[in-house]
Amino acid sequence: MTQEIAIMSEKPATAAEIPPIRKVFVKTYGCQMNVYDSDRMTDALAKDGYVSTDVLEDADLVLLNTCHIREKAAEKVYSALGRLRDLKKKKAGEGREMMIGVAGCVAQAEGDEILRRAPSVDLVIGPQTYHRLPEALKRVRRGERVLETDYAVEDKFEHLPTPDKARTKARGVTAFLTVQEGCDKFCTFCVVPYTRGSEVSRPVAQILAEATKLVEAGVREITLLGQNVNAWHGVGADGAEWGLGELLHRLAAIDGLARLRYTTSHPRDMDEALIAAHRDLPQLMPYLHLPIQSGSDRILKAMNRRHTTAEYIALVARIKAMRPDIAMSGDFIVGFPGETDADFEDTMRLVETVGYAQAFSFKYSTRPGTPGADLGDQVPEDVKAKRLERLQELLLSQQRDFAQACIGRDIELLLEKPGRMPGQLIGRSPWLQSVNVDAKASQIGDIIKVRITGAGPNSLFAEAIS
Ligand code: SAH
Ligand code: SF4
Ligand code: F3S
Repeated sequence: MTQEIAIMSEKPATAAEIPPIRKVFVKTYGCQMNVYDSDRMTDALAKDGYVSTDVLEDADLVLLNTCHIREKAAEKVYSALGRLRDLKKKKAGEGREMMIGVAGCVAQAEGDEILRRAPSVDLVIGPQTYHRLPEALKRVRRGERVLETDYAVEDKFEHLPTPDKARTKARGVTAFLTVQEGCDKFCTFCVVPYTRGSEVSRPVAQILAEATKLVEAGVREITLLGQNVNAWHGVGADGAEWGLGELLHRLAAIDGLARLRYTTSHPRDMDEALIAAHRDLPQLMPYLHLPIQSGSDRILKAMNRRHTTAEYIALVARIKAMRPDIAMSGDFIVGFPGETDADFEDTMRLVETVGYAQAFSFKYSTRPGTPGADLGDQVPEDVKAKRLERLQELLLSQQRDFAQACIGRDIELLLEKPGRMPGQLIGRSPWLQSVNVDAKASQIGDIIKVRITGAGPNSLFAEAIS
């Protein structure tokens, strides 16, 4: 799970499938799992006659799916709620109702505070209770203000509808699939164990059923999601205990599923079967997001990451030995409490050693309730800012070098969506880069051979080859 992204809900479903009784506007903050959850909530609401809209003013229900990972992410929610309060008032003046719901990790962490600070909010619902959303909305319509943040005893995924074919088609040829949720690692900076709860793995049969449905709706690439996706485990069809490596093997056998990815992995959970899957499965893309956070052993210890830089470097070497063309991606935090200049230089050196095709880096943000918040020796903001600037410069130069090295290479491209220019499509390289190529809209979903001809700041350019 990585960068903060804000994505609107998918295009409205056609009137033929669902009667357009009510409209829901979903705004998604945070990580890919929130994107996945927003789709699941939209699917659950469709059963009650809700259709998605991307016009805020038209919405009968506005749902913010929020992120708590850094202070800024959480604060965004309150400013959005301020704007929504005004819109709700305006609409009420016109005799139109608008319900406001807050979902996601801020809802889980600060449910009571949201209800207190934002009286216009009708519903607060945490990630573990999304299957109760339709019921919660009924209670709102009866005049209640609803807070649903208790961990559910029932299996959320059993009660959430699986992706609908028409809506899946509208969402495109790539899809997310949550296989694991929650975290037991308790890194001292991180809120996720508190917002997503403890680690839960979805059962094999459930995952296979959902993946098969996605593929039947035209999905060619599935990204398995989990806060610690490689901690996934379950009982396989053969009765044996499976890890993510075995699960990937089984998923790769689904006819029509061309590509697999998974994110986010913890270095401690990269087992041999998973590493070997990178060698053995052509469907498994040669790209791995494997955050280390810091290159200083002292800081890694204080962060409770429970591994050293040497172990991480050795792990990357083992993975590269299995799959030499694998591109590494990572996350970094600068300015964790107690981080000295020397610790930061260790991070710079680690980045030089590993070499990242892509990475996300952040200034440490103190999160209430985490052990990091109680540590002395907080690093001043200006020091964090300077360190972040230097780190990002280095990471960006590595990313550019990686893109430049692709020029002249022949690669396979999964054509995903229309490009900016007419007659152009955007596809994904095996290494997750966006690539522009001349191709027909009817080719979306195809995997074609292209030669990379150039690299822009955010994407590559290519020509189709036969
Ligand atoms: N489960 C993933 C990360 C989830 S959070 C993992 O173990 O790597 C995504 C990223 O946000 C983290 O990798 C970390 O780099 C960043 N992050 C988390 N908490 C943060 C904090 N308090 N301040 C700054 N960045 C943070
Ligand atoms: Fe957060 Fe650490 Fe868990 Fe990742 S492994 S979600 S960084 S506590
Ligand atoms: Fe944010 Fe929650 Fe994801 S805190 S990063 S939305 S797991």
